[in-house]
Amino acid sequence: MGEQPQPQGWYDADIERIVVSEEQIQTKIDELAKQVAVDYAQHDSVLLVGVLKGAFVFMADFARALGRQTRPVEIEFMAVSSYGARATSSGVVRILKDLDRDIADKHVIVVEDIVDSGLTLSWLLKYLESRSAASVEVVALLRKPDAIKVDVAVKYVGFDIPNEFVVGYGLDFAEHYREMPYIGVLRPSVYSRV
Ligand code: PRP
Repeated sequence: MGEQPQPQGWYDADIERIVVSEEQIQTKIDELAKQVAVDYAQHDSVLLVGVLKGAFVFMADFARALGRQTRPVEIEFMAVSSYGARATSSGVVRILKDLDRDIADKHVIVVEDIVDSGLTLSWLLKYLESRSAASVEVVALLRKPDAIKVDVAVKYVGFDIPNEFVVGYGLDFAEHYREMPYIGVLRPSVYSRV
């Protein structure tokens, strides 16, 4: 069989520029999983805590990559909403969905799609530590160094990207584009459509 053309997604026409390709993402996830597997080799299991909604795609790929590194993973999700944090820098976060169980003495890795201002993560790390996790680290697929407002330790970072609005791979614009397998910048015409 010859090389098949990539199927087109409905979203491709809305994308001005690809920031991180599907192949780059998948290669990076394998690298991150290998690194985590080495760092956590002495632990029986790792508890991944995904931050909804954005992290659901990265969580699915990262968990499977880690499993292939023979690390058993447990999975939890939280959903939080920042109370206008972007406007006020208040960093006040409301829990929309809490952990389903106790995380005391667990080795937790927070799985985030993107660290933007860092406010969500900064709050979340304090919260998880207050729940007596044995350790808490972070894996973030994307980070915007120029948008950081609070210093937050992210041990595992996929890609540092410029401070521009991106969609795809879990990240949305008005709840669309989360299913895109790559990260891209929208065409300006998309914004004038809504
Ligand atoms: C995004 C992202 C992070 C947060 C990062 O979530 O998934 O959780 O923002 O931003 P910060 O570093 O400035 O705090 P969002 O609030 O857009 O919700 P969603 O994941 O449901 O789309």
